[in-house]
Amino acid sequence: MIYLDNAATTIHKPESVIEAVTDAMRHVGNSARGTHAGSLDAARVIFETRMKAAQLFGCPDPTRVAFTSNVTESLNLAINGLLDAGDHVITTMLEHNSVLRPLYRLEEERGVEMSIVPADQNGCVIYDDFEKMIRPNTRAIVTTHISNLTGNMLNVARIGKIAHEHGLIYIVDAAQSAGNIPIDMAAMDIDVLCFTGHKGLYGPQGTGGVCVMPGVEIRPFKVGGTGVQTYLKTQPKDMPVRLEAGTMNAHGLAGLSAAIDFINETGEDQIHQHEMTLMKAFYQEVSKIDGVKIYGDFSGDRGAIVSINIRDYDSSEVSDYLMQEYEIATRPGAHCAPLMHEALGTTDQGAVRFSFSYFNQMDDVKTAVKAVRELSEQ
Ligand SMILES: Cc1ncc(COP(=O)(O)O)c(C=O)c1O
Repeated sequence: MIYLDNAATTIHKPESVIEAVTDAMRHVGNSARGTHAGSLDAARVIFETRMKAAQLFGCPDPTRVAFTSNVTESLNLAINGLLDAGDHVITTMLEHNSVLRPLYRLEEERGVEMSIVPADQNGCVIYDDFEKMIRPNTRAIVTTHISNLTGNMLNVARIGKIAHEHGLIYIVDAAQSAGNIPIDMAAMDIDVLCFTGHKGLYGPQGTGGVCVMPGVEIRPFKVGGTGVQTYLKTQPKDMPVRLEAGTMNAHGLAGLSAAIDFINETGEDQIHQHEMTLMKAFYQEVSKIDGVKIYGDFSGDRGAIVSINIRDYDSSEVSDYLMQEYEIATRPGAHCAPLMHEALGTTDQGAVRFSFSYFNQMDDVKTAVKAVRELSEQ
């Protein structure tokens, strides 16, 4: 199979990640639940991973990194834990449902007000709109870093600057950028960075986290056993246990730790460049094919995603055909990004998303281009 659905999850992982998980499963116990070797091993693995994540994302203090099971949980944690009744929040049409649904729910249940920065038919926003939408009760801005549908990248530093000039909290969904685009929370004015381990970080599924800048205090979502301060009736206030209740996924985090080592050893720039080379080659070739429509803005830096449609063919049928006839894995349909499809005018047809990883090669691109060409000729 030629795997071009890396924006959903990366299937090809570094061997070191697989080895780290299997090794951890042989000896890692339950962190903070005793002083025996197994428990200490777990604590060590988890703390090392916190330090590596903090360093990778420019978070000044590793204890401000709390682990979750994925970016959806991270976003739920941040959004529910920072917004109150009567608050106003600004987001964009680029967002995944893991941003939109928690916000819609708060709108309904807590009366949180929400404004959505529009995107044009190329999936681009006007940055002045963020400023124009600010109200006296605006509390936060929540945006993705890279659209999972078009691959367009938002200038998060620019949005962060606007947020901080107005005393707002800036929450970023780094699902599509973590691991391949350098992120520096402090320099980019990001207050809460939400990430997932299983995509561009090349870690295991079931890993993710939030990095929270000092001074920003998120209300815990789940409360329970932490192994410390047992006689307190409430969740301990200090990070990271404030946001971590229950047994940690130390096995998965051992894999995430090895995955971050892989990213650091290979270099985010090197990974990004390789992915861009493949993405651009695919984009350039398919844009020459009659009947192919490509979505997104390809004028600047971006993610390694190209979403297309062929004539008026249903995107699911195209994706099925690509798998059956060419063994190429892509993702059709709506990609959990309803407003982005609205902006692109593709709510009925959906789109076929090709997304590239460091483990793809130019031959994969050539086969994919050939398949699109043959399909468009039918
Ligand atoms: C931009 C974006 N946000 C959020 C998510 C949700 O990721 P996860 O399923 O790991 O929580 C995805 C994954 O598709 C995504 O692309």
